[in-house]
Amino acid sequence: MPKDFVYACAVAAYQVEGGWKDDGKGPSIWDTFSHNGNCALNATGDVADDFYNSFRKDIPLFKNAIGINSFSFSFAWSRIYPNGRGDHPNPKGIAYYTQVLKTAKRNGLNTSCTLYHWDMPDTLYQEYKGFLSDKFVDDYRAYAKTMFQAFGGMCDYWITFNEPKVTCTHGYGPNPEHAPGVKGPVTDWYTCGHNLLLSHAAAAQEHKDAGLKTPIGMKLDHMPLVPFDKNSAEDRAAADRANDFEVGWFVTPIVTGQYPKALVDAYGDSFPKFTPEQSASLKGSIDFLGLDPYTAAWATPIQNCNENVMSNDYPMCVRKFQTTPEGKTIGVPTGSAWNFLDPEDSVYFGLKLLQDRYNTSTLPLWISETGMTQINETELPLDRKTDDQPRVEWYRRTLESVKKLIDEGVPVTGFVPWACLDNFEWARGYTERFGVIGIKYDAEGKGSQERFVKKSAEYLKRVLHKGEKISTQV
Ligand code: BGC
Repeated sequence: MPKDFVYACAVAAYQVEGGWKDDGKGPSIWDTFSHNGNCALNATGDVADDFYNSFRKDIPLFKNAIGINSFSFSFAWSRIYPNGRGDHPNPKGIAYYTQVLKTAKRNGLNTSCTLYHWDMPDTLYQEYKGFLSDKFVDDYRAYAKTMFQAFGGMCDYWITFNEPKVTCTHGYGPNPEHAPGVKGPVTDWYTCGHNLLLSHAAAAQEHKDAGLKTPIGMKLDHMPLVPFDKNSAEDRAAADRANDFEVGWFVTPIVTGQYPKALVDAYGDSFPKFTPEQSASLKGSIDFLGLDPYTAAWATPIQNCNENVMSNDYPMCVRKFQTTPEGKTIGVPTGSAWNFLDPEDSVYFGLKLLQDRYNTSTLPLWISETGMTQINETELPLDRKTDDQPRVEWYRRTLESVKKLIDEGVPVTGFVPWACLDNFEWARGYTERFGVIGIKYDAEGKGSQERFVKKSAEYLKRVLHKGEKISTQV
């Protein structure tokens, strides 16, 4: 492993903390969304992994079982500002994260701190629809400033946003599966993305103004589109176009200060625009780029594309798919319908694509999340949950692709398995388990909070901490 390589495991506030109204915390959009019965088996994050109370035991467990040198987590904004903003942050919220950070330090871990992992204070949605209003930018800026002041000396890496594309395409638009989950037109995605990008730039400016030397980055969902038939010029063009819409939507503005031309051309005047000052504030606004490659998808053009053909992704005019009509899948299926093991495409091809498109040869890249759930994992007996060979294989093949990238000079400087611990998997509730450490609760998230270490944790520790070969068997 290169020197100073960040090897972390990750969790996010709403997925693990619980304590949904403890110590003055206000409701987030996910509290509201889950309380309205929008998650599998009516699950909520009210208790989740009880990390709010158990972090003092959990963090050393992560360190010992997984062998990490770093811990990646997110702050719940509504613990800091219960209504999204205010003259003073909630002292109990500040005290809580101070303890989390101190516990990580005491255990010899550096930390990457994400300001926003999908759990906006509900008030901001009720007041102005969250990301659909440019009022969000000022509220986020003020929140970020508070966090830099409070934790500037404690967080080693800062991440402004988790997965902007999913934030917008799953939270807004025609078929929202995530909070706030209110239907609207496709153009809402782009309004959301625009305000999110401007908020990122505002936070990056606050980080600079606070004089912090710690790196700041963004963490992007990364589902690269690969041509279904690599020998077909049409499929290659379709994949290129789709990657502009999907990967380029956020990477291009933070690297170049502009949106990809394909997006602007497709939507014309209705597409949001940056002022010259905004472009300048976005360009180069990151010190490292986090990518969350789980899985890739194939791309092929939609013939005779028009608005009636595809109301969702129009005018991209690309069919994205992971399974052919004959049932061939892009990779090995997992317990999540959208997720296949295909690291040669998702990791290797996906990171090379960035390198080629943006000439990012000096921009450090992190695999800031990757992981999987076993098929029907909640139903498996404990020994099969523990002996999670499909997940071991996931990390083995993924690390092979990472090694190949590093050997070829791509600056991968971080690797972050998702997740440290089984947790609340958003709309899927507790029915899907991504942890390398398990929890004995049931598919509704009820029952025992007892933790157990899976073989995948042992595998990762042996390879990434002890330096054993990637081919190591556990
Ligand atoms: C998200 C996580 C989520 C994981 C698995 C990522 O997109 O950042 O919060 O649990 O994928 O679905």
